[in-house]
Amino acid sequence: MANTQGTTGLVGWIDERFPLTKTIREHLTEYYAPKNFNFWYYFGSLALLVLILQIVTGIWLTMNYKPSAEEAFASVEYIMRDVNWGWLIRYMHSTGASFFFLVVYLHMFRALLYGSYKKPRELLWLIGVVIFVVLMAEAFMGYLLPWGQMSYWGAQVIISLFGAIPGIGDSLTLWIRGDYVISDATLNRFFALHVIALPLVLVGLVFVHIVALHAVGSNNPDGVDIKKVKGPDGKPLDGIPFHPYYTVKDLVGVVVFLIFFSVVVFFAPEMGGFFLEHPNFEPADPMKTPEHIAPVWYFTPFYAILRAVPDKLGGVIAMGAAIVVLFFLPWLDRSPVRSIRYRGFAFKAALALFVVSFLILGYLGALPPSPGRTVLTQICTVIYFAFFAVLPILPWFEKTKPVPERVT
Ligand code: HEM
Repeated sequence: MANTQGTTGLVGWIDERFPLTKTIREHLTEYYAPKNFNFWYYFGSLALLVLILQIVTGIWLTMNYKPSAEEAFASVEYIMRDVNWGWLIRYMHSTGASFFFLVVYLHMFRALLYGSYKKPRELLWLIGVVIFVVLMAEAFMGYLLPWGQMSYWGAQVIISLFGAIPGIGDSLTLWIRGDYVISDATLNRFFALHVIALPLVLVGLVFVHIVALHAVGSNNPDGVDIKKVKGPDGKPLDGIPFHPYYTVKDLVGVVVFLIFFSVVVFFAPEMGGFFLEHPNFEPADPMKTPEHIAPVWYFTPFYAILRAVPDKLGGVIAMGAAIVVLFFLPWLDRSPVRSIRYRGFAFKAALALFVVSFLILGYLGALPPSPGRTVLTQICTVIYFAFFAVLPILPWFEKTKPVPERVT
């Protein structure tokens, strides 16, 4: 006999003990997503894909990696040369790190385009920013593990930044390193955090991110609230069931993504030093500082902001503020219009300037400083913060277009 879910047999047996069919209905087959998702809506599911890819390749790397200052570098070489398919697993993991940030940056940009951080999605956005911060910590700690020159000296530069904090700076750096210099103790704790603690936190946060998304429903390229217009059956007229429509659409994104990903893994895993930096092919040497220390590309915009301020503490504050300001975005942007499609020239120009300056910062952050570059970095830093500063006053002179009732 069928149960309240209308299921029988094994599934019926499970349904009487666990909400299997109910969950599949609520989150897949009867979860109504706006029918007008475009290119920009691929990146959430792709971020999920890369997260899984990183966890799986990470587990296999851990099977042969040795988290000790004596053996770490050699164990990575061993993985690359002797372990069956080790080179593939390692390149997938290192390329995966860069693609993770690429996908997440595009995912965040989509939120800016369509005002996805606005009411009622503020909490969804906040959880997203926390994910971004944890992801940066995860990548930073992972980068120390191969124990190459850039691993060592990059960590040296970033950890020493905490020393600029008045009063507690020195004890804080000591506490983070677990030693007076970056050493085996540092490597060991970074390993613990990179391999288990932060991935657990990330998975938990992503789960909560999706719970929050499903509580309020997705935004869309028109920024229209699809729950407002429902048919006689109570279903949004502009919504379609997530499964099968978006599971199939997202699969197309996955295939295209994997093509790009494979091209990099097989033909350009170092990406000219952008994904794997050249000095990191030399073992860490505490007695030899590399000529030019720069973080991996996904950190360079923030690194450039750090260097834009001549004072060390000032630089640290600016870099921190560049990230913290993201948390305030839902309350800084006061326009009643969500999507860029119906926003005025003022917002479009501000967003374009913001994106261009962020890209220039990323480029400059990878290069050694020069007086000319420093000035340009400072100009772009000012534009970066100016974007957030002008958001609250933009509606005063922004001419928005009328937002349609239904998606177009
Ligand atoms: C591991 C990283 C992340 C994963 C796996 C993830 C996953 C997802 C998924 C599956 C969706 C629904 C599909 C989509 O709208 O594309 C989504 C939506 C969203 N995410 Fe994320 N996300 C991540 C990071 C972030 C970050 C860093 C932010 C912002 C700082 C963010 C903000 C948002 C917002 C605002 C939405 C709703 C977008 C809309 O409905 O227009 N996410 N996320």
